[in-house]
Amino acid sequence: MYVVDDISPDMSFLEMLDVLNERLIKDGEEPIAFDHDCREGICGMCGLMINGNAHGPNKLTTTCQLHMRSFSENEAITIEPWRAAPFPVIKDLVVDRSSFDRIIESGGYISAPTGSAPDAHAVPVPKADADNAFEAAACIGCGACVAACPNGSGMLFTAAKTTHLGLLPQGQPERLTRALDMVETHDELGFGGCTNSGECTAVCPKGIPLEAIGRLNRDVLKAATKLPARH
Ligand code: SF4
Ligand code: FES
Repeated sequence: MYVVDDISPDMSFLEMLDVLNERLIKDGEEPIAFDHDCREGICGMCGLMINGNAHGPNKLTTTCQLHMRSFSENEAITIEPWRAAPFPVIKDLVVDRSSFDRIIESGGYISAPTGSAPDAHAVPVPKADADNAFEAAACIGCGACVAACPNGSGMLFTAAKTTHLGLLPQGQPERLTRALDMVETHDELGFGGCTNSGECTAVCPKGIPLEAIGRLNRDVLKAATKLPARH
């Protein structure tokens, strides 16, 4: 347990950890390892379990966007790393989320002809599809959905990635193989199955909706009936 003094309510949660680490370093002690990069909610590096909540108490807020005014004076705050088998702890609060990279590698791409980029309006995209694809593209790969899920499932993340590409015309050629490959990789890496508990979407700082998983499941079903058997 650490006592941290002189914390302004306007400090961010990570600045509070900086203050603590500066003091530890000054006292010749080992600082606490934690991940961070952009500190503005876009890189997905900073996930922490704070008082049992992924990214802390506020909705649609990453750990780096959380401020100390969200806690009461002298509050004891419990901070833990994400806990999920596919996210091994590297040190203190830092986990290895490269399993997400393996899922993206297995299908998070499109095939496109080389040459100069076509005009943006050359391929019409229905407004609803564009909006849903854009919403899914907001996923920052933070891993909160996995940490909050009682099954340790990465389906909300996987569904965000397949939705982002699968709703756009450019993503159609690989749509079904993408869904199948990414879910297969997800399962092989030890993420749990989705049982629609909804904890994932409740903690997602980017508001990725549960419907994305339904869309992914429909694509996986279609793939199972339309693609040649693989095994
Ligand atoms: S779906 Fe949400 S919680 Fe999960 S990795 Fe993406 S942004 Fe983070
Ligand atoms: S440090 Fe980049 S999202 Fe928090």
